[in-house]
Amino acid sequence: MGSLSGRRIVLGVTGGIAAYKAVEVCRRLVDAGAHVSPVLTDGALEMVGATTFSALASEPARTSLFHDPETPIPHTVLGQNADLVLICPATARIISDIRTGRSADLLMATVLATRAPVMVCPAMHTEMWEQASVQENVDVLEERGVLIVPPESGRLAGGDIGHGRLADPAIIAAAAERALAPGDLVARRVLVTAGGTREPIDAVRYVGNRSSGKQGHAVAAEAAARGADVVLVTTRAESAPSGVRVVPVETAAEMASVCEIEAVDAEIVVMAAAVADFRPAKSADGKLKKHDGAPEVELVPTTDILAGLGERKPAGQVLVGFAAETTDLLDNAAAKLERKNLDMIVANDVSKLGVGFEHETNEVIVLMADGSRHHVPLSDKRDVARTVLDAARSRLESDPTNQE
Ligand SMILES: Cc1cc2nc3c(=O)[nH]c(=O)nc-3n(C[C@H](O)[C@H](O)[C@H](O)COP(=O)(O)O)c2cc1C
Repeated sequence: MGSLSGRRIVLGVTGGIAAYKAVEVCRRLVDAGAHVSPVLTDGALEMVGATTFSALASEPARTSLFHDPETPIPHTVLGQNADLVLICPATARIISDIRTGRSADLLMATVLATRAPVMVCPAMHTEMWEQASVQENVDVLEERGVLIVPPESGRLAGGDIGHGRLADPAIIAAAAERALAPGDLVARRVLVTAGGTREPIDAVRYVGNRSSGKQGHAVAAEAAARGADVVLVTTRAESAPSGVRVVPVETAAEMASVCEIEAVDAEIVVMAAAVADFRPAKSADGKLKKHDGAPEVELVPTTDILAGLGERKPAGQVLVGFAAETTDLLDNAAAKLERKNLDMIVANDVSKLGVGFEHETNEVIVLMADGSRHHVPLSDKRDVARTVLDAARSRLESDPTNQE
């Protein structure tokens, strides 16, 4: 579970047409383990039903300051217990009221009664969004530390296309996660590789492997949630998490040349990609024809990216490798750790059920260069990512090069 697990989030929904998307946000927060208290304004109730939110959150959606026999002072209970107040979508009205502190309804009273971070996801028509008054209000909120998830461009209600559309629910959930993450990697530069490389045989065929990129993507998402500046070099860009800079690549050679540049400044490098060890010596320009017979595919070694990064490792950098093995897991991993000048290696026995390639889960042993080990039993890949980054961070902080 991520940083949302067990955290209390007041989900304020206001009367924008995008209120229906707040249902998806609510779902994502609940799925991530958060305790969600929905608060709907009168405007929101014109757009969506409170029952949907009550059912998803397993807590009655609140809609009024008054007449709640269970909670006579709902705004202070909600505000004081919250770890985050997330307003999604946020109308021009609530943005203005937050600026002026006008306590017009339960949601505004809750915003005023909390010391938790407040996150606002504006959504409105382009003309409304571009009004000087709205822009000024948003700027003031931002200056005061309110977290803003900016709207996107795209299709708006009524068929118009323009700026002002609510950010994607996945982006909003990731932003909430970031807001509640420990923040122990703030501004740290982290490079992550992910996915299996594809080495072309001809214009349409390739030699590849079963890596889905999920473990590397989980590391990138976790690092970003903890405040790091993340570069993710991946062969699976289509499923990359938000909040990271994605560099899509396909072959080992492409990944090698990107990593050579990106690793120079990185403080933590996590090489989770399954890079091909061999590639076809030649790749045909067009598609090889079946009637020409089976081609002879001669394989030649690719560049060993990890070994190269190990040789050129700048002082103070933490270099993390992965070892997917089917036999002699720990011996092979320990030998690779030493041979490639790594600080840590994440060893997984991919012959076990539910472990490694294509699965949502993984079981690993993290071997450190100082000989210590951390075992992560079969868990979500995000949990593995957390252990890897915890270990990398403590290695980074204990390195004398990194001490002032
Ligand atoms: C169909 C419809 C769609 C609306 N969509 C938006 C919107 O996307 N953003 C916005 O700021 N206001 C929108 N409004 C205007 C708000 O509903 C109105 O300002 C209302 O007073 C907001 O109330 P609330 O902030 O208490 O929910 C819309 C109104 C209607 C009738």
